Amino acid sequence: MNNLYVISGVTGMTGNELARQLLKQNDKIIGFDNFFASSIDTVRDLSGNEDFEFYEYDINNKEQMQSLKEKVRAKKGSYEQLIYINCAAVVHTEHFYHIERTFTTNVLGMKDFLDQAIELGADIYINCSTSEVYSMASWSEGGVKESDYLIMANAEHSQRTSYATGKLLTEFFMKDAVDKMLIKGCSIRFANVYSKNELYPKHIIPHILHSLAETNGEVVLLENSKKNKRTFLHNSDSCSAVIALVQSPDALDGTVYNVATEEEISIVDLVGLCAKYLGISDPKITFSGYRASDPERRLLNTEKIRSRTNWKPQVSLDLGIQQCVEALRR
Ligand SMILES: NC(=O)c1ccc[n+]([C@@H]2O[C@H](COP(=O)([O-])OP(=O)(O)OC[C@H]3O[C@@H](n4cnc5c(N)ncnc54)[C@H](O)[C@@H]3O)[C@@H](O)[C@H]2O)c1
Repeated sequence: MNNLYVISGVTGMTGNELARQLLKQNDKIIGFDNFFASSIDTVRDLSGNEDFEFYEYDINNKEQMQSLKEKVRAKKGSYEQLIYINCAAVVHTEHFYHIERTFTTNVLGMKDFLDQAIELGADIYINCSTSEVYSMASWSEGGVKESDYLIMANAEHSQRTSYATGKLLTEFFMKDAVDKMLIKGCSIRFANVYSKNELYPKHIIPHILHSLAETNGEVVLLENSKKNKRTFLHNSDSCSAVIALVQSPDALDGTVYNVATEEEISIVDLVGLCAKYLGISDPKITFSGYRASDPERRLLNTEKIRSRTNWKPQVSLDLGIQQCVEALRR
């Protein structure tokens, strides 16, 4: 028998790719999104698929979540496992500063969705957290580990940290529910996920590609980018990590998993890589603006997920950027 997946934020970057990977395994998906940061376009091609059910619902709307619950209750008996994946969130950099919206969706919404999963007797809940919880201590020799102590920027430094603190709280809800044996599950700390279809122009990869392509070789970066380095995870790899965890019952102990690549690149070199595949030989970078509480590096140690599942990233940054350039040219 196949599994029934309930996915919040299913039209977002992670949600829609996850749905695609699960449909290939013949699983059933009930997904919803309120289009806060996405649109129906990302799943339009799935509309004829009887294993993909979509609702325009808001995770904070009690009536809509009640309706979702009834739909899941009616279907769950026909499937081997019922699995909840929480992808809905107020995510992107500019929204990090909107504390109330971030708290309502990312914390209260996550908790209500978890409570629903528990009430319906779901087998697994996967909580999408973030590597932003490492805040200003985002790297160390060999990468930061899940067990490392967290050192956060505080409100005096930047309201941006509200996103990370909210996500951190969800990790405790997850752990508590598993410790009480109400459900199995875990939290995932993703780092800088990108996709060739990414809609959000303020994320660094689409920003660089669009700027270079539209101005024939010019891009404006924050002053932080003179020093910053990052790793970038292709969204097919972030989603295969979710599936690998779901398929590894011993890993679903309520704890946290770093999910990232170890392929670190400076933002300046990233511009060079994007320019190379756009056929631009000498990109011009201008530095302007500064973002407070932005770590210079974000390098995660991924030994934990690699040792507990068979997951490892498959798409190199080089290949991923080539895909992004091809998508941009279409
Ligand atoms: N993209 C990254 O680099 C990254 C890094 C770390 C963690 N994450 C986490 O991974 C998860 C998925 O992120 P993503 O990259 O797919 O982002 P995304 O913005 O593409 O997807 C999130 C989706 O949630 C939806 N949403 C927002 N508020 C909602 C609400 N009230 N009700 C219903 N839907 C709502 C949005 O419309 C969007 O489609 C999030 O929890 C995010 O915090 C992402």
